[in-house]
Amino acid sequence: MNFIKKNYGWLIVALLATFPLFILFNMFRQEGGPNIDMMYHVSGEFAIRWMTAVLTCTPFFIIFGVSNLFVRQAMGIAAAVWSFIHFIIFIWAEGFAETFTQVNYVAGLVAVLILIPLFFTSNRKAMKTLKKNWKKIQTYSYAAIILSLLHVILLEKTWLIYGIIVGLGFVIRTPFVKNKFIEIRVNKKTSNL
Ligand code: HEM
Repeated sequence: MNFIKKNYGWLIVALLATFPLFILFNMFRQEGGPNIDMMYHVSGEFAIRWMTAVLTCTPFFIIFGVSNLFVRQAMGIAAAVWSFIHFIIFIWAEGFAETFTQVNYVAGLVAVLILIPLFFTSNRKAMKTLKKNWKKIQTYSYAAIILSLLHVILLEKTWLIYGIIVGLGFVIRTPFVKNKFIEIRVNKKTSNL
């Protein structure tokens, strides 16, 4: 019980991230085999949703002063795993060589490659070992989301909502806006004392 109380944040992320796997597995039980477009849709959407969610953690912290590193790491792992699943489905359906036939696939591939070090360093041990470099590696996620958005924009699929959320996050990170939010928070705290 104590374990659940302490870890409920990342446990919820793990449950939410695992659930769509059942949707994918169920597709294999359909008559006539799985619908490949639906598989791309489910895996691609969850990949970009988790990636967008991870990138809202810092703006959320700036505005509300609340953060949980382990929840953030769990979200990062979910984003990477769903991206890997999405790419594995592609290789299974079209073959690896097909990746190099369209610019949008190449953008997706580079994003997937960037996610590999992020995936392997999203844990406490890597954080301790890498120290300052850990933060540097985490900033690769900016390149991953930009390339993922480019991939989805070129495919003419739903991207605007993710673009707006990520874009607002970048605005909130700028020193001017960030300091304003911190100032408001500090003033609120001292007036409550
Ligand atoms: C090598 C890497 C990748 C390949 C080869 C690839 C391939 C594809 C393909 C074939 C589709 C379906 C296109 C269609 O229906 O016309 C698709 C859709 C999509 N992909 Fe990727 N993708 C890659 C990486 C990524 C990454 C890293 C993300 C995000 C994190 C992503 C997010 C999406 C999204 C959101 C869709 C649209 C799904 C829908 O609404 O139907 N993809 N991708």
